[in-house]
Amino acid sequence: MMYDDNPTLKKIDESKQGDVFFKEQLAGQHSELLKKFYIESYGCQMNFSDSEIVASILSDNGYAPIRDMEQADLILINTCSIREKAEDTVRKRLRVFDQLKKTKPALLVGVLGCMAERLKKKLLDEEKLVDMVVGPDAYRDLPNLIATAEEGDKGINVFLSREETYANINPVRLGSNGVTAFVTIMRGCDNMCSFCVVPFTRGRERSRDPFSILAECNDLFARGYREVTLLGQNVDSYKWSNPDNGQPVDFADLLEMTAQIDPDLRVRFSTSHPKDITDKVLHNMAKYENICKYIHLPVQSGNSNILKKMNRTYDRPWYIDKVKRIYEIMPDCAISSDMISGFCGETDEEHEDTLSIMKIANYSMSYMFYYSERPNTLAHKKFEDDIPLSVKKKRLSEIIQLQSTISAAHNKNCEGTIYKVLIEKESKKSKDDLAGRTTQNKMVVFPREDAQIGSYAYTKIIDSTSATLKGVLVSEADFLNQQKR
Ligand code: SAH
Ligand code: SF4
Ligand code: F3S
Repeated sequence: MMYDDNPTLKKIDESKQGDVFFKEQLAGQHSELLKKFYIESYGCQMNFSDSEIVASILSDNGYAPIRDMEQADLILINTCSIREKAEDTVRKRLRVFDQLKKTKPALLVGVLGCMAERLKKKLLDEEKLVDMVVGPDAYRDLPNLIATAEEGDKGINVFLSREETYANINPVRLGSNGVTAFVTIMRGCDNMCSFCVVPFTRGRERSRDPFSILAECNDLFARGYREVTLLGQNVDSYKWSNPDNGQPVDFADLLEMTAQIDPDLRVRFSTSHPKDITDKVLHNMAKYENICKYIHLPVQSGNSNILKKMNRTYDRPWYIDKVKRIYEIMPDCAISSDMISGFCGETDEEHEDTLSIMKIANYSMSYMFYYSERPNTLAHKKFEDDIPLSVKKKRLSEIIQLQSTISAAHNKNCEGTIYKVLIEKESKKSKDDLAGRTTQNKMVVFPREDAQIGSYAYTKIIDSTSATLKGVLVSEADFLNQQKR
């Protein structure tokens, strides 16, 4: 998943927003007759995925997406509440939209997503120029809410559903590279980690009908996509039972069914909770070449006492055993993590445990944060946010520094080896280079020669940094020879 205020920040690439939509959906339509909407997304990948659902709903209701917000009739911002900084970023953007609205009174501005859900009507009171506040389960109601706002009233729907999975909505791929896509398989979270606002903003956990998931993945494959990432806050607790015969489908089953669509369709997933990932999942990963050997397994802290206070329901030895199990079943698997520094009451020794578990798990990369207290969470109610900001930041910088060293060693280790990559895009730095990912989710940049975006290639790694691998194209025969050795 990608996050708002992270060093590895992934903000929507505004220059590319809507490209694929225009190509795929607008062919043959009179786009000049449609109203125009502009959407910006923040937060985790699920929010980006939700924006594609919103785009689909709006396109069915006479709206077309545009890249230039100045031309928009409707501006939507899909928001994140995970840390205070994430909300600050959104408020800054609202100031920019306010300015635009002053010059264009008919423009409507809607706040979607987690901040809408967390603040509800308060957001309308605080941000006077916002016309609509729409929670993550209320997107089907957008056309009505827009109509209300057009009448000059404020539109609000923050109802959290126990059933909504948007199963039958075919997302419009915004800013897509046409190769990789995200597919939401479940919504909400029942875990109640004490630091986390998600259970309040996203509601109860519910799993999407597997047949609609497989249909979406099949359709993506038919349209040339070669990788799907199955998304949920806790994919390992995916649970569905067939209403016709009561047959259960768990995450391992879903993974297997997705992998069977085609050997050329790569399957990834995020996020796994250490308490829930099963051997059945690990064995299915090992069984299928096209299920990527990469697990995002956030640890949050390496100390059992802190983990208990975080309500993560596993402790340090349990986590270490899980990591060992993964490497035992898939020695070539990469594991990444999320870490929080300076949680309530964290001592220097407890912080050291986070550093040491990072080395034991040998993470290929991590998303790293300092603790940001969120209103009404369990931690807010039970513990004091007593670690000074300077200490939180110092510990965070130690975590970042260590991860950078571990990642660099990880990547150095890849030098001389040949990896199969799925080519995703042109390199940002040079048009002569392409970029693709290994199964372990590492980006390889290599001279393009005659390789094509959207196809597989074999690259031998010749150089590396802590963030990327540099390679050259080699033949499939070279790759097969290496496997024999
Ligand atoms: N469902 C995922 C995480 C979703 S939130 C999981 O359980 O792993 C993404 C990450 O943000 C978390 O893993 C955590 O590291 C971080 N995070 C969540 N709440 C936070 C807070 N209050 N302060 C700082 N970081 C937080
Ligand atoms: Fe938040 Fe925990 Fe749920 Fe992840 S598993 S979304 S950290 S409550
Ligand atoms: Fe943020 Fe909501 Fe995702 S709080 S991290 S956008 S679920």
